[in-house]
Amino acid sequence: MSAPILLWPPIASAYAGRVDLLIACFGVLVALLSAPVFILMAIWAVRYRKGRRADRTPGQDRNVWLEVSWSVIPFLLIMGFFFWSTAMFLDARTPPADALVINVVAKQWMWKFQHASGAREINEVHVPLGRAVRLTMTSQDVIHSLYVPALRIKQDVLPERYTQLWFNADRPGTYPLRCAEYCGTDHSVMIGRVIVQREEDYARWLARAGTDGGLAGRGQTLFHRLGCSSCHGAGVTERAPSLAGIYGRTVTLASGRAVRVDDQYLRDSIILPNKDVTAGYAPIMPPYGGVLDEEQVLELVAYLKSSRNGEPGERGS
Ligand code: CUA
Repeated sequence: MSAPILLWPPIASAYAGRVDLLIACFGVLVALLSAPVFILMAIWAVRYRKGRRADRTPGQDRNVWLEVSWSVIPFLLIMGFFFWSTAMFLDARTPPADALVINVVAKQWMWKFQHASGAREINEVHVPLGRAVRLTMTSQDVIHSLYVPALRIKQDVLPERYTQLWFNADRPGTYPLRCAEYCGTDHSVMIGRVIVQREEDYARWLARAGTDGGLAGRGQTLFHRLGCSSCHGAGVTERAPSLAGIYGRTVTLASGRAVRVDDQYLRDSIILPNKDVTAGYAPIMPPYGGVLDEEQVLELVAYLKSSRNGEPGERGS
């Protein structure tokens, strides 16, 4: 299946329309500012060419206001664009708190998606229409970049780090998703699809896709299988801090530094636990870097996030 190469990708979100408007206006501004220079250059090159009899006496008049205006007006216009694009940049990096979270793991050469329900997809991601969706992304190997032209969003996907993207698609349809960072032999075929569905179609798809224990549920299974619960289980705090309700809390490290527990902190604490040890505990946890793949780490993180009190994962009110 090969899609035709479009000169202008479709617009599948309000944000995409705003990006196009910004680029179009900036294109017009640059044309307006540079066109007089090139047009006058051409006219004068002809008028004052060698051998042509023309009046070459230098003009004596100085017009200070004219000179000031051609510096100040372009400056103000460009500053307007600076604030306009900065506002959009901040907006693009601030997902709404109630956004639907979908995990993305990139690896040579495929895209894997995990929904909170537990549904998993490869090279294809279903999303509901008109709802904010946040992608939490990481790579299993090298640097990739997730690019959805129809949504005008692109973000590098890095190993050992979570990056994010968010969008709110407002037109149902199937849109291409690409890798926009050269990542090896099959980079060019690391492509997928974003399928935007109406709420009821999406709900039907979600039900059909199954849950496979749910994301947090799979994390809970791992938590016990790996033996995490022997040190981090409910009521056990001799060797390790309790993880109940850990997400979003501020913890003090042995170094005296205080950190807020987020996805990245949890990931690092599983992969390289002795880098940031909680104050009052010995650095005895084994690293899980070579043991878990990124999807499993995301499952564990989802489980820890779901915990409120008691054992991690016990859902509070
Ligand atoms: Cu992955 Cu290019």
